Amino acid sequence: MRTIYTLVSLLIVLQSSFSSTNMDAQNLSREIIKFSAKFCNELPNNVSAISSPLSAEYLLALLALGTSDIAHTELLTSLGIPDDNSIRTAFSSVSSKLKSIKGVTLSVANNVYIMEGQYDLSPDLKTDAIDVFDAGIEKLNFNENVASANHINQWVESKTNSKIKNLISADSLNSDTRLVLVNALYFKGTWAKQFDKQLTSNQPFDVNNNTKINVPMMFKEDTFVYGESAGLQAQLLRMDYIGKEASLLVILPNEIEGLGGVLQKLSNGYDLLNDLSKMYSTKVRVTLPKFKIETEIDLTTLLPKLGIKQIFKQENSGLTKVLNTPEQLYVSKALQKAFIEVNEEGAEAAAATGFGLELLCYIEKPPVPVFCADRPFLAVILFQNMPFFCTTFHGSKFPGFI
Ligand SMILES: *[C@@H]1O[C@H](CO)[C@@H](O)[C@H](O)[C@H]1NC(C)=O
Ligand SMILES: *[C@@H]1O[C@H](CO)[C@@H](O)[C@H](O)[C@H]1NC(C)=O
Ligand SMILES: *[C@@H]1O[C@H](CO)[C@@H](O)[C@H](O)[C@H]1NC(C)=O
Repeated sequence: MRTIYTLVSLLIVLQSSFSSTNMDAQNLSREIIKFSAKFCNELPNNVSAISSPLSAEYLLALLALGTSDIAHTELLTSLGIPDDNSIRTAFSSVSSKLKSIKGVTLSVANNVYIMEGQYDLSPDLKTDAIDVFDAGIEKLNFNENVASANHINQWVESKTNSKIKNLISADSLNSDTRLVLVNALYFKGTWAKQFDKQLTSNQPFDVNNNTKINVPMMFKEDTFVYGESAGLQAQLLRMDYIGKEASLLVILPNEIEGLGGVLQKLSNGYDLLNDLSKMYSTKVRVTLPKFKIETEIDLTTLLPKLGIKQIFKQENSGLTKVLNTPEQLYVSKALQKAFIEVNEEGAEAAAATGFGLELLCYIEKPPVPVFCADRPFLAVILFQNMPFFCTTFHGSKFPGFI
C-alpha cells in the first residue's frame, strides 16, 4: 500500500470585483460558488476561519483525472463538473484568466513531487498536469524525509510571499510516499478606495446573541457597490481592489446569529449571481473589522463531508490512473493552510486611535445606507464572480493593534 499526499497551501490578503462572463464561465462560477459555500459551511462555526475552496478544487480536479469508478464519480459530483473534458476546458480557462488579472498580486502555483526511481505520473495525467494545471513536476527522495519536507516548504514559502511556512512536516513523508501534490495560492490587493487609519478604533462586535467583544473597526463613507438580499436576509457590499478586477464581497446577515443560515442557503445552491447582478453603486457608510486570520484545515476530515471519501480508502481508492506503476495508492494526508489579512490599505497595519464608530453604526435615519459589520459575516475575495478565498469572521484580535 502506497501513499499519496495532497497538500494545499494557500494564502492571502484580499478583495474583489466582477464583470460579465460568458455562459460557460458563468456555469463554472455557479459550481465554484456552490462548492465554496459547502466547503466554508464545514469550517468551525464559532471561530474565524479562512480557506480557499478554489485551491482545493485545483488539486481535486487534477486527482479526478487520475481516478476511476466510485472515486471518479464522487469527485465529479462534488465539483459539479460533468466529465473529464469539462475539467480540462474549465481549469485551462481559469488558469489563463488568473494569469491575466490586473492591479493585484495573484499567484496560483501547482507542484507535483514524485518519488525518485522508476516512478512517474501516468503519461495522460502528466500531459494534463502540465497543460491544464500548469504544474511543475519534480522528483524527490522521500526516504530523506527532512530534506524533502524542507524542499517542499521552501517552494510554498517562495510562492506565498513567505506567508505560509512549514506546510508539510517531515514525519508525513516516508519510504512509502509516492506523490505529494501541492497547490499554493497567494493574493494581495490594495483597496481602490483605502480606509483612513485615523478612523480605525476598537468597537463592540456581537459574537453571538449573548457575547460582545471589542475589535478594531475601520470606517469609510464612499461610493461602493451595495445590495440587499431578501433571499439571504443579508446586506451585500463589494469593495474593489486596485485594477477593479478583484474585489471583496462581504455578506452581512441581518441577524446577529444569521451566518449559519446564509452558508446553508449558499451551499444548497442559492443563486448568489442573481443577487450580485442586482447590486448598485451608491454612497455607503462602511464599518468593517480589520483582521488577520490563519487557518489550517485537515482535508481528510472535511472532504468526506462533501462526499469525497473513496480516495482516502486503503482498498479500492480508485486512484488507478495516477502513476505509471500498478501499485495501489491512497491519499493519506491532505491539508490546507491559509492566511488572510484585511486592513486599511492591504499592507501591514499600523496602530491608530480613532473616535467612537458606534455612533456611525447606529446613527438615526442616516442619509445613506449603513453597512456595519459588527456581527459574524462572510467575506469572499472574488475575481470576475469566481471566489478564491472565503472567510467566516466571528471576531478576531488584530495582532499589534492598540
Ligand atoms: C449552463 O447551465 C445551464 C442551466 O443550468 C444549462 O442549461 C447549460 O447547458 C449549461 N451550459 C454549459 C455549457 O454547460
Ligand atoms: C467552538 O466549538 C467547539 C466545538 O463545539 C469547541 O470545542 C470550542 O471550544 C469552541 N471554541 C470557541 C472559541 O468558542
Ligand atoms: C438570537 O436573536 C435573534 C433575534 O432576536 C433570534 O431570532 C434568535 O432566535 C436568537 N438566537 C438564539 C440561539 O437564541
